[in-house]
Amino acid sequence: MQNMAPQSQEAFRKYYAEIFSCCTSGKVHDCSIGAGGTTLPMAKLGYEVSGSDLSQNLLAKAKENFNSAGFSIHLFQADFTKLDEHLSTEYDIIMSTGNSLPHVDAAGFTSFVQAAHKCIRPNGYLYIDIRNWDKILRERPIFIARDPFVMTAEKHESLYHIFQWNADNSVTFVFVTSVDENGVHVGEYALVGPKYYPLLKKDLESILHDNGFELTSYYNMDTLWYRDKNSASGDTDFETMDWYGALFKKL
Ligand SMILES: C[S@@+](CC[C@H](N)C(=O)[O-])C[C@H]1O[C@@H](n2cnc3c(N)ncnc32)[C@H](O)[C@@H]1O
Repeated sequence: MQNMAPQSQEAFRKYYAEIFSCCTSGKVHDCSIGAGGTTLPMAKLGYEVSGSDLSQNLLAKAKENFNSAGFSIHLFQADFTKLDEHLSTEYDIIMSTGNSLPHVDAAGFTSFVQAAHKCIRPNGYLYIDIRNWDKILRERPIFIARDPFVMTAEKHESLYHIFQWNADNSVTFVFVTSVDENGVHVGEYALVGPKYYPLLKKDLESILHDNGFELTSYYNMDTLWYRDKNSASGDTDFETMDWYGALFKKL
């Protein structure tokens, strides 16, 4: 999921223009930039964007994606829990896109927040884009059938998202693709994804509050991450929303 399709790029551009109306220019760093598709619309809005990630492969892909859109940005490998060891100036906005922060546990998340605090100018912003882990933990799904990848008369590729719950409440994502061709079942293949440490809204809020940030607002991101869902960014019902953005201001 790279968000590089033109409709996704335009949807994210509009979304960022709305939520960052409080800070319409300046230096922005995405500390989990991945292949860069979720961050590129910030460059299109005129921000001076840079990015880091643990994965060299994804950083190479991000370079390609930004270059092909006409932008040359500073990209480097870094662990976001030690971000302050890599950034030397103060940023207007530090962001983490694509549900990346739950890759680390609560202690790792706290280190990230403390590191980010050192890299943001006074009254600057920390922006987090994350799945609604309150809903996931409440429902504890075992599997979800996603939109089919391919659905033609000849071929049908279905995608199943398996949630493998671990004893410590962490969850490993497994993606199974099932393929049928000309009415005959060809087989399945599975991809074991990363392990996530569910980050509840109350913990997110208390860790940010205790480390010098004030909540500005939450935003519903369902339509950005799921094309089949339909809700407005202001409609932040934590009972129903699957994915949200959270904007915090450094005090
Ligand atoms: C689901 S991807 C999201 C990538 C991108 N932001 C997007 O929206 O497409 C999660 C990213 O977090 C990165 N990541 C995981 N742990 C990290 C860490 N400790 N420091 C920096 N990046 C990390 C992974 O390498 C991966 O690129």
